[in-house]
Amino acid sequence: MRDIVVGGRFVTLHGIKEGYIGIDGDIIAEVSLSCIRGRNRIKVEHSCLIFPGFIDIHVHLREDESGKWTHKEDFKTGSMAALNGGVTRVVDMPNTPVTGTTKERIENKVRLAKKAKIPVQFYGGVATDNINELSRMKGLIVGYKAFLCKSTGNMTINYEILENALQEIRKVELPITLHCEEQSMVDELQEKFKNSKSGVMAHPEIRAPATEYVCVEKTLKIAERFPEVHFNIGHVSTPEAMEMILKAKECGMKVSCEVTPHHLFFNKNAMKKKGAYLKMNPPLRDEERRAKLIKMVRSGAADFLASDHAPHTTEEKESETPPSGVPQLDTYGLFVTWLLKKEKFDPVLILRMCSYNPARFLGLENEGTLEVGCAANLTVLDLKHEIKVKNDMIRSKCGWTPYEGTAFPGCVKHVMLGGEVISSHHELFL
Ligand code: DOR
Ligand code: ZN
Repeated sequence: MRDIVVGGRFVTLHGIKEGYIGIDGDIIAEVSLSCIRGRNRIKVEHSCLIFPGFIDIHVHLREDESGKWTHKEDFKTGSMAALNGGVTRVVDMPNTPVTGTTKERIENKVRLAKKAKIPVQFYGGVATDNINELSRMKGLIVGYKAFLCKSTGNMTINYEILENALQEIRKVELPITLHCEEQSMVDELQEKFKNSKSGVMAHPEIRAPATEYVCVEKTLKIAERFPEVHFNIGHVSTPEAMEMILKAKECGMKVSCEVTPHHLFFNKNAMKKKGAYLKMNPPLRDEERRAKLIKMVRSGAADFLASDHAPHTTEEKESETPPSGVPQLDTYGLFVTWLLKKEKFDPVLILRMCSYNPARFLGLENEGTLEVGCAANLTVLDLKHEIKVKNDMIRSKCGWTPYEGTAFPGCVKHVMLGGEVISSHHELFL
């Protein structure tokens, strides 16, 4: 007799199965196509798909020991936004006011993150002056993050620093995630657009497609000289960059990449309506590139759907100099229903990009699949229950979403974390 039995259609690496998941405590104890006896039963309707809890390996939850950015988000609100979106584990980025670039600073973040409702893990930042800290951070972090261009926070490094850092990282056996945009090209284009009246609409032109793929090309050249290091390219936004990454993989290089919901959903014309609320780095692309990118992702080009959740307040977005970044955690699962229903993504590919590959990337043997011995973390999507997004559904402290007004073809019906149902129809029981 199991504590809880969940019956319905669940997604495995081999396809959709109809059956039962028996849970004891916080662990999946039994998986069967025939009935399992349980003290409590949850019957999931046929319109739903049960996934292992989604894992988002790229979020900016804004909290550090200074507390200077907790008006945007903190570990508690960020984790509630994650659960609202069906995400049961996240990895947080180091570009906070006190950057996550030393062992002690990461230890402080780990302490602060105890108030999160889900597990939060960390990247250690690569900075101009922290080469000696890199190996010290091992054990506290999942890998390193390097920004090759200016973005939110103050963490930009050049290729020379990157190479010096890689000499250390190669000894540590942890991956590195890179933000690739070519700073010298961005500077030149910025100069060109200096007197333009187009305001925020110039942002995608200043950070033009080539600024991304030229940087990806250079980064992959460097990667060839560090074959033992796993290079993960963050938020790929152009098909040109994706093509280069695919070629590198074909050559057997240890390379992976992320795509974001926003680059797959919006094209840059959407900024006409939403303005700075859709300003981010890398920026949105033209429709042709967006459509090409999603086609490549549909055929399996991307390893991870990672949100790059980057909340800023509405005041900041409405200001003269709006910061870059969009909140994405609350809507992660809704976006997945769009991929499944409107974009005809294979549920097995969703399982890989949102659960299985992230768990493998983090070295978590007991997450990312619905197998005996795995954590009882389930995300149940209802593919019939359409939802029109409103800002008041948002749990992120920023309180807004670029999808306000968008109708998604499904919703996050239940989220189970460690054997407990903690969310139903976007209502959190916390
Ligand atoms: O748009 C972005 N926002 N891109 C980044 O690289 C950082 C992020 C943030 O932290 O706001
Ligand atoms: Zn990011």
